[in-house]
Amino acid sequence: MEAMIGRLYAQLLDAVMRDGAGEGADPARWWQGAIFYQVYVRSFRDANGDGIGDIAGVTEKLDYLAGLGVDGIWLSPFYPSPQVDFGYDITDLRDVDPIHGTLDDVLRMLEAAHDRGLRVIADFVPCHTSDRHPWFRESRESRTNPRHDWYVWADPGPDGTEPNNWLSSFGGRAWTWEPRRSQYYYHPFLACQPALNLRNDDVLREMIDAMIFWRDLGFDGFRLDAVQCIGWDRNLRSNPARVPDEDDVEVGGGPNNPFSMQVHLFDRDAPFGQTVLEKMRSEICPPGSDAVLIGEMADLDSTRLAVKYTAGDTRLHAAYDFDLIQKTDSLHRWIDTLQARSRYIGDGWLMNVLTNHDTVRAVSALAGEAVEAGFRTEAAKLLLFLQATLRGGAIIFQGEELGLPQPQLDREDIEDPWGLNLYPDFPGRDAARTPFPWSSSAVNGGFGEGAEPWLPMPDAHRPLAADDQDGDPGSVLSFVRRLLAWRRTMPVLRTGGDDVCDPDGRPLLRFERFGGGERLRIVANLGTEDLRLASEGQPLDFPTQNATATADGLTLGPFGFAVLDHARA
Ligand code: BGC
Repeated sequence: MEAMIGRLYAQLLDAVMRDGAGEGADPARWWQGAIFYQVYVRSFRDANGDGIGDIAGVTEKLDYLAGLGVDGIWLSPFYPSPQVDFGYDITDLRDVDPIHGTLDDVLRMLEAAHDRGLRVIADFVPCHTSDRHPWFRESRESRTNPRHDWYVWADPGPDGTEPNNWLSSFGGRAWTWEPRRSQYYYHPFLACQPALNLRNDDVLREMIDAMIFWRDLGFDGFRLDAVQCIGWDRNLRSNPARVPDEDDVEVGGGPNNPFSMQVHLFDRDAPFGQTVLEKMRSEICPPGSDAVLIGEMADLDSTRLAVKYTAGDTRLHAAYDFDLIQKTDSLHRWIDTLQARSRYIGDGWLMNVLTNHDTVRAVSALAGEAVEAGFRTEAAKLLLFLQATLRGGAIIFQGEELGLPQPQLDREDIEDPWGLNLYPDFPGRDAARTPFPWSSSAVNGGFGEGAEPWLPMPDAHRPLAADDQDGDPGSVLSFVRRLLAWRRTMPVLRTGGDDVCDPDGRPLLRFERFGGGERLRIVANLGTEDLRLASEGQPLDFPTQNATATADGLTLGPFGFAVLDHARA
């Protein structure tokens, strides 16, 4: 019954809101259903040979990026930073770290990207700065200085301990003592990332002005970091306890991080966060502007939160659907997640993300055993196919278009402070951040000529390098290019609604996309055992994998998928 009501609601909404899919669609809504590519600048291409990726390296590779057929790119932080959290600890919100280049390099990159029809969004960190930011240096000096309440300060409890029980998702307490003020400051991540007090109008003004600065330089919008942390309880109430469960697969570093032993009722997602986003949206994206705000919200009930923050037209335009990576350890568990979200998504907008610089590469995380058994290419193509066809937009993390598996790093290669805090329970995020393999034969895999890359080029990635996949029609890279070109001919995939069917206990993902008078039926085998489907109709010639149609049905082999028909009303 619930499924039926959900379906009717989805169809009604689709009819009302999305009927213009494709022709006549509002160009200001370019972001709806768009496919982005995440460039982790530090590890993408090192143009000046110092071992660290840079903006000039991004510019060099824009033809490659445009050739993939993505709508835009998202650049991870390039601002001045001591790099303790690799750029997410910022000391100047309006400049470029010299290790990544200069403002001129950014302007050149923006122009060249726009010339190629690529949108560019910048990572922006609204919740905290580095402890070396001049604002924090001043704020920590005394309780009376002009910036004394630009960060979240609180007195100790009566016994001298922290003001409440809040924990950092990166391990340990979320409060650090400042003797100069005899107070604690709050930091939901590292102690060197003090939380900004966005309740202070001057602080919010500075943040909005910094975003306007980048927008006016030519950025098409922002990926807002850790949006769940913008709003915290004004009364600093302690979080209730909870017993970690299996859904915690990756949340906050996994079930062994004490962070997962609390319900994050008071340190996350306070209503104030939404007010902040409303102000940002109205100033940064006024009517007539086509700038976009895409939220990153992890470590909670992510999909529901993403829907809440994107419904209506007043806060975020779109947000990551983290449940696809955070709350699942295998593709089989996706079906329930997708069925549930299709019922409550309403007019929320999600970005399908399967991995990023914080998590494990998708084929290894979602199909690890099958990859070991030799199905890496098939698994990678299936995952990209789903990113391109599931409802919403998508963000493809660099290297996913090559189907890279998660490499093994040695303990001494770990640089990530989160990994160093929680090792060996959580080995950190470095393995997802290794340098991009451009060439199987060039020095440093083509990442840069000169100094050793900041993280090792994994041996397992060299044979999968972009130059080797380039001319191979069976490669993952060739598949993505064709897939995204095909997607551009299917407006229903950008903006249409969806209906996810019951799989009858099998690892079968069967869903429909509909809107604008079009309808597509899609089937996918999320496992390696053959699945037989009764007379499903004739698959399109492309995109398809391991799908064999016979007179009485369709067989889907390992990670097989097919698009069954394309009906236009
Ligand atoms: C970013 C991380 C970063 C954290 C703190 C995130 O969610 O993606 O890389 O460490 O925010 O800024």
